[in-house]
Amino acid sequence: MENRRNILMDCDPGIDDAAALCVAAAHPEAFRILGISTVAGNQTIETVTENALRLTQFFGLDVPVAQGAKVPLTRPAKTAADIHGKNGLGDVEIPKTDRKAVSDNAVVFLRDQIMGLPKGERVTLVPTGPLTNIALLLKVFPEVRERVEEIVLMGGGACKGNVTPVSEFNIFADPEAASIVFESGLPVVMCGLDVTGKCGVDRETAKELAGSGKKIARAVGSMIQFYLNSPAYRNRPAAYVHDAATFLYLLHPEIFRGERMPVSVDCSDGITRGMTICDARPTRPEGEYHTLVLLDADEKKFLEYLVEAVHMLDARLDG
Ligand code: RIB
Ligand code: CA
Repeated sequence: MENRRNILMDCDPGIDDAAALCVAAAHPEAFRILGISTVAGNQTIETVTENALRLTQFFGLDVPVAQGAKVPLTRPAKTAADIHGKNGLGDVEIPKTDRKAVSDNAVVFLRDQIMGLPKGERVTLVPTGPLTNIALLLKVFPEVRERVEEIVLMGGGACKGNVTPVSEFNIFADPEAASIVFESGLPVVMCGLDVTGKCGVDRETAKELAGSGKKIARAVGSMIQFYLNSPAYRNRPAAYVHDAATFLYLLHPEIFRGERMPVSVDCSDGITRGMTICDARPTRPEGEYHTLVLLDADEKKFLEYLVEAVHMLDARLDG
């Protein structure tokens, strides 16, 4: 399958990280997942790593998992248990696994995976949590740069925030790491809150999935139902499955719209900490902008392709 993208996913599962991984697992014709690294975010590093191990088994993925950063580069760790539950997966029980992390140093693991690729092959990095591991990778092992095709990340927002009115969780958690990634000069696709606000799953769809007799649909639907009842979505019609926008963009870029523009990150301790400052001014300085900021998506198509991936994975695992 020559058109497959080599993928390294860096995540903090996390309900929407799990949905994103489900989409990737449902499309082996498009993605060759080389490995998964974990970063503290939605939950502690121990919890998100255990979740990643269980999810790879549950989704039928035979891929290595490496444990990553316990805390951000310079700031104290912050979790989101109120949104993702005590176990980080909406308190949905994913079957236990005997699988263990292949390393507790995700940065070296990522470097080895990338530099071990056959000559001429490159990798797409898909971070869906705080960018601590990715920033360290780029700083400690700059030789990986020429092997990185692009970085398709969930984070930030041109005009939106969730942790604060102007700052999104993944960036707020580790602004310094995000600044390193956005300033790296590598091609970045920013799946921020502007576009993920069009990547929702409504209550009826979540209920249908949760009521399914199929294990993947039931688990993903139940996680999203937890999400819908969390403080973030309690009185709203849909929950945004933010992280799934990354792989769905890679699969169906035609349903998304974005603009290339300079993005910088506020690393202050003020009220705009973690803001991704996206310069959309017509009078902005001329230049080659490495970041594509996604601003819109066809929400019906997003939901259709997400649900399709869930059912495709169930069908494949049912053999
Ligand atoms: O703001 C949403 C992001 O923060 C998602 O990646 C979610 O999983 C949390 O990590
Ligand atoms: Ca995440």
